[in-house]
Amino acid sequence: MASAVEAVTECRLAGVDETWVGIDDTAGILVNVNLAQPEARRCLTLLLRRLQGRRLPCIHLVRTSAASTVREAQALGATACLSALLDPETVVEALFRQIRPDATVSELVVQRQIARTGTLINTMFQTAASGQIDLQEVEQGLDPVMNAVKEGGLTGWLEVVRAHDDVTFQHCLLVAGLTAGFARSLGLSSKDSHLMVRAALVHDVGKSRIPPEILNKPGRLDPDEFRVMRTHAPIGHEILLASGNCDPITLAVTRHHHEMLDGSGYPDGLSSDAIADPVRLLTICDIYSALIERRPYKEPLPEAEALRILHGMTGKLEDGLVAAFAKSVSTDCRHPIAA
Ligand SMILES: [Fe+2]
Ligand SMILES: [Fe+2]
Repeated sequence: MASAVEAVTECRLAGVDETWVGIDDTAGILVNVNLAQPEARRCLTLLLRRLQGRRLPCIHLVRTSAASTVREAQALGATACLSALLDPETVVEALFRQIRPDATVSELVVQRQIARTGTLINTMFQTAASGQIDLQEVEQGLDPVMNAVKEGGLTGWLEVVRAHDDVTFQHCLLVAGLTAGFARSLGLSSKDSHLMVRAALVHDVGKSRIPPEILNKPGRLDPDEFRVMRTHAPIGHEILLASGNCDPITLAVTRHHHEMLDGSGYPDGLSSDAIADPVRLLTICDIYSALIERRPYKEPLPEAEALRILHGMTGKLEDGLVAAFAKSVSTDCRHPIAA
């Protein structure tokens, strides 16, 4: 039950000896006790006193539907009684219908996973400025992204992330979500999907060393600034090498995600076969993400328009992969996009 709640928000477990100190930001309560036990009733009476008349959503799990049990539970603060035999997800859904009637549990799960991964990304960028990152920490961001995309769909992930105004935060999480969705749609194994999402989360880590006045410039970059901006790919690669134990896919993606099949990309001007498949895949997610993002100097493009631009990049991107990507985005969207 606690882990079902944890998927949505923070959860504190309390025993019948709980003294209910520091509960000001408690949003709801699940009670799973035997009310025949005096210590359980004492504990709930103390909770009611601590709440000082504040009525919180409070679901009691009961083992009988006898009217006397329901009455007693209500007297001890229950806003609803449910069978203790129900599965945790159903109970959690009922609780959150009372706490947040404006959102579904799926939406709340996506929001929480984004907050979790976002904190991780922010920490990663702060530590990267010193030249290294903790790849173990990045690992903790993989499941939240993959679970949120699975739970709320790619559209849910994109909608919530796009509402965020920190450009780099938004970009990393968008690329990670798009990559997770693309990997799912391609039927990649869980191991390969994890590798791809890891690479997506760190691919722009070199931007931690780009001066903020260039990174956040509210206008187009001039050629000198653009030259500085382009160094983020090799810098990111250096940061990962210095961090140690980085897998070859993440290293390649970080250095080469701006390479194009026709050799017009940077930093190494690689072409065709020299660009590995995982890099080609991530490059597509990266470009699409940049197109649909709000930047200080541009409005986000509609998704159909962004796909049209990708389809127009023949020679630079792999056509078959672009078609597969378009399918992965379209099948997930509530409003299908014509490719
Ligand atoms: Fe980049
Ligand atoms: Fe990027």
